[in-house]
Amino acid sequence: MNAATNEIAAVHAHLNEVYPMLPFTPVKGSGVWLENAAGRRILDLYGGHAVAALGYGHPRLSEAIARQARDLVFQTNALPLKVRDEAAEALAAFGPPGLGRVFFVNSGAEANENALRLALKITGRPKIVAFEHSFHGRTAAAAAVTWGAQQSWYGFPRTPFDVQFVARGDVAALNAAVDSSTAGVIIEPVQGLAGAFDFSTEFMHAVRAACDRAGALLIIDEVQTGMGRLGEAFGAQLHRVRPDLLTVAKGLGGGFPCGAVLMPHEIARSLKPGALGTTFGGGPVACAAIKTVIDVIHDDGLLAQVREVSALVRAKCIVGPVESVQGRGFLLGLRTRPKAAAVRDALLAKDILAGTSADPHVLRLLPPLILTAEHVQRLSQALEELTDATL
Ligand SMILES: Cc1ncc(COP(=O)(O)O)c(C=O)c1O
Repeated sequence: MNAATNEIAAVHAHLNEVYPMLPFTPVKGSGVWLENAAGRRILDLYGGHAVAALGYGHPRLSEAIARQARDLVFQTNALPLKVRDEAAEALAAFGPPGLGRVFFVNSGAEANENALRLALKITGRPKIVAFEHSFHGRTAAAAAVTWGAQQSWYGFPRTPFDVQFVARGDVAALNAAVDSSTAGVIIEPVQGLAGAFDFSTEFMHAVRAACDRAGALLIIDEVQTGMGRLGEAFGAQLHRVRPDLLTVAKGLGGGFPCGAVLMPHEIARSLKPGALGTTFGGGPVACAAIKTVIDVIHDDGLLAQVREVSALVRAKCIVGPVESVQGRGFLLGLRTRPKAAAVRDALLAKDILAGTSADPHVLRLLPPLILTAEHVQRLSQALEELTDATL
């Protein structure tokens, strides 16, 4: 056993072994760098599955979380909180026009679970349309609309509603599937786990039109794409498409666990007390983090930075084992000739962390939004050095 394997074995003693782990144990982070106990630093281009939107140790985020924890670490939705109102106001303003009400939850799956519940309840219809290769989460409803879950890990004896999957980009199949029995359509503007598969603006508009024709609700799942990752606040704004419900999590709290469902006032007004609920959702520390993440994205011009630095990845990183780049902003898929896992391992040996995806030939990059040109240069150089002999 080498030292790296020993490091992992120690961590694993009492954990469920449901996650394959990489041989690096971070103890702290700064900016886009992670560091282990021995002082080895690696460049993090994966951001903890797209969560660390502001990177690590961001002074404003760390201070906001610490201050709120000192002042009032928690209270439920049974008591009003100024910081919760402020976070909701900031998120509604950051989101697409028309979604003025926010319901806070704790995770992406919980956000989708609630959005699906709302679509089914409001329309009284039994079916949800989703897309092949989608990922929407692990809970009963979110996993029911996740492509392939029922064949592999779903585990529940049946799904709680009817689900029809449609091939990506197939407008005729979409129009046939979205009918008078359809409560809602759920779509990720860029499919993350699938390997950064990017839906076109035309297709997003076709989905909106199909929903309008059938009287179904459009749920845009921005759990991974949201909070500036695509170089716009949300994919909805990027494509100028109006969702009826929008879900967000991951980068929302910059690392503090939280999620949200955004909805128009008309939908919110139809909800009676008790229609939705959660203990932790909308807690003060989460809300302080949410407000700060949005403020920093604005103040530091991070949307423009994502667009510029993403363009550099496309310009400089089709080298070595990389054949092409897909996706948008900082949700990018580098299509590799060898297996992406081999490229990921070789990059990690060069102190760069990237991720894989459901596509065995797509290496996924989900870096913090603060990534700069200098970091892209490092990636480009490392990729160039990877030869067939090293993979
Ligand atoms: C698009 C999308 N939706 C939903 C989820 C589920 O989020 P969570 O893991 O926070 O439940 C994920 C997680 O990867 C995701 O990428």
